[in-house]
Amino acid sequence: MTTTENSRRDFLVHASKAMALGVSCVAGLPGAAFPAPHTRISATGAGAKPVPYGAAVRVDALTSDMSYRAAVIANCQVVVPEGEMKWPDIHPARGEYRFEKADTLVDFARQNNIEVRGHTLAWYGGMPAWTAAIGSRAEAERELVGHIETVVSRYRGMIPSWDVVNEPLVDWPDDESSLRPSIWMSRLGPDYLPIALRATATADPDTRLVLNEYDVEFEGARFAARRKALVRLLRSLRDRDVPLHAVGLQAHLFAGRAIDRDGLQELLAEIVALKLDVLITELDVIDYGLPGEVSERDALVAGIAARFLETVCDVVRPGAILTWGLSDRYTWVPTYFKRPDGMPNRPLPLDAEFRRKPLFGVIEEYRRKTV
Ligand code: XIL
Repeated sequence: MTTTENSRRDFLVHASKAMALGVSCVAGLPGAAFPAPHTRISATGAGAKPVPYGAAVRVDALTSDMSYRAAVIANCQVVVPEGEMKWPDIHPARGEYRFEKADTLVDFARQNNIEVRGHTLAWYGGMPAWTAAIGSRAEAERELVGHIETVVSRYRGMIPSWDVVNEPLVDWPDDESSLRPSIWMSRLGPDYLPIALRATATADPDTRLVLNEYDVEFEGARFAARRKALVRLLRSLRDRDVPLHAVGLQAHLFAGRAIDRDGLQELLAEIVALKLDVLITELDVIDYGLPGEVSERDALVAGIAARFLETVCDVVRPGAILTWGLSDRYTWVPTYFKRPDGMPNRPLPLDAEFRRKPLFGVIEEYRRKTV
């Protein structure tokens, strides 16, 4: 199914027919058994229920690996597609959208009463080749807004939280410029942020708008500069009345990078003062610098995550905690951070056989901690 004409309306008609036939399918229709938005990715504030836990998932594996599918169902209250809602998958050519995999995920989630987070709409990375030909400012605005209208409105009422803007900061910001180059920056300048956020709010007025960023938790001048630039960016959006509900801390943690407790807590206090929620969106512990021995390594990984979660949960209750993958069987880490000893990476809460690791217990503990 490739298409421009494959609209939300067609999708919902298909969904309602499928439901009438008793076939499970996504339905944002009145009375559909999809949880109301925001019932689980909640606003900041102590509540009786544990913080929802979730993971990035791979749709192909969900349909081909039944043990993985069962582990996702058993452990996740939230899922986010690792790649299937990114531009190359969903909008591979100009005017051509492909929704099969994203639909499969949304359908899977609805069947299992799992919430979906959307990821991502405005990112510098992983853009399909055709977007390099976007020439003028007007064309860029048309393409960005058109993409957001098409994708977000298709899943309106079904995706209560979107990573609208992903990784907007340069690696090492300074006072002059802190926004990362991208097709959007080069054609629209910093206006691409309000354009994307407003377009998402228009396409689904109930979805929570998230700005997602990485490398803001560690000790060192680069990370301090990133925290400062992030606060400056959030304030400038607020000053211009740009809609935004939450900041996502990706939290790709590393052995050998210490958490800056004061720096991170100051950042969180600024975010809270701006009345924004905090989500942990992509937690994992990159273990390429850790010893090979598995039980020792798993304990160190759990300790690194505990230090981070303790620092965060001391000042704010996150709206959700998601890891970037659920099981070591499916993780992005070896693509970029393969271990020198050739042993498989172990960055996630479940091992490659879906057994719980100490990291799982740490996340469970902090899901239940109240500020
Ligand atoms: C990664 C995926 O895990 C990979 O499979 C893909 O090849 C590249 O992107 N921060 C993000 C995610 O926001 O989208 C990235 O996901 C990991 C870093």
